[in-house]
Amino acid sequence: MSLKKILKERLNLRDEELSKIRRSFEIIGDVVVIDIPDEVYHLKEDIVKAILEKHKHVKTVLRKVGEVSGDFRVAKYEILYGEKTETIAKEHGCRFLLDPTKVYYSVKLSGERERIFKAVKTGERVLVMFAGVGPFAITIAKKAKPKEVVGVELNPVAVDYFKKNVKLNRVENTVKVYEGDVREVVPKIKGKFDRILMPSPNNAVEFADLAAEKAKSGTVIHYYTFAGIEEERELAKRVEDLFSQYISCKAIFIRKCGNFAPYVYRYVVDLLVD
Ligand SMILES: C[S@@+](CC[C@H](N)C(=O)[O-])C[C@H]1O[C@@H](n2cnc3c(N)ncnc32)[C@H](O)[C@@H]1O
Repeated sequence: MSLKKILKERLNLRDEELSKIRRSFEIIGDVVVIDIPDEVYHLKEDIVKAILEKHKHVKTVLRKVGEVSGDFRVAKYEILYGEKTETIAKEHGCRFLLDPTKVYYSVKLSGERERIFKAVKTGERVLVMFAGVGPFAITIAKKAKPKEVVGVELNPVAVDYFKKNVKLNRVENTVKVYEGDVREVVPKIKGKFDRILMPSPNNAVEFADLAAEKAKSGTVIHYYTFAGIEEERELAKRVEDLFSQYISCKAIFIRKCGNFAPYVYRYVVDLLVD
């Protein structure tokens, strides 16, 4: 749902004001996360009213006051409406307890999650690096038939939610949660994986060697990165070259799966290990 559309319908805004509103908003459970630029901040009460009118179940409205940043990939927020920031997001029949002010979670990745769980074959062993509150690991466990899914996450608050979400979705028999830096944890996990996910586009590049260490012939690696639209043509080759320092592999698929800034997108590149 675009914020622009809501404002246009409700507030009769001038085009100049409308053009300041760049981003849409996200509804995470009963929490709305919205980006209101300073230039239209004076309209915040009307914006909240418009949201509440259209989405009756919403209990809290958070305004992003800083970009997603730091190792944990969490933005800073100002509460515009409500009090409670913990919520339950629903996705693909799974439930994720989380607090967007403390952990990363994006509804916008649910399409990518679906692409991945549909690709997982029966009996696979899957490694999810940078697992967050568990949406990739848990949707794979719930919607596909893997033998095991191992998730590794650094943010202790996200790890706590991840463990709760494993129970909430009754996937305790399939999903194992490890807390810590992938650099420390992954080398200690025994054996290789059939599929490795690296859903941390800002720093996955630093961990290509680790993924390679846990891959074998036939492993598929899902590598996420930010890139400008002008880099798209050579991106698959660049990622292939990055991993080829450690293993023989081919890029077999590339697509945009979200946007980060104007003309900068989140891309996924799938690699098949020879
Ligand atoms: C962009 S978020 C993705 C989270 C989750 N996969 C999702 O889709 O919701 C990246 C996650 O990686 C975690 N992270 C960052 N560096 C890490 C590291 N070195 N080891 C383990 N986790 C890390 C962050 O705390 C954050 O939760």
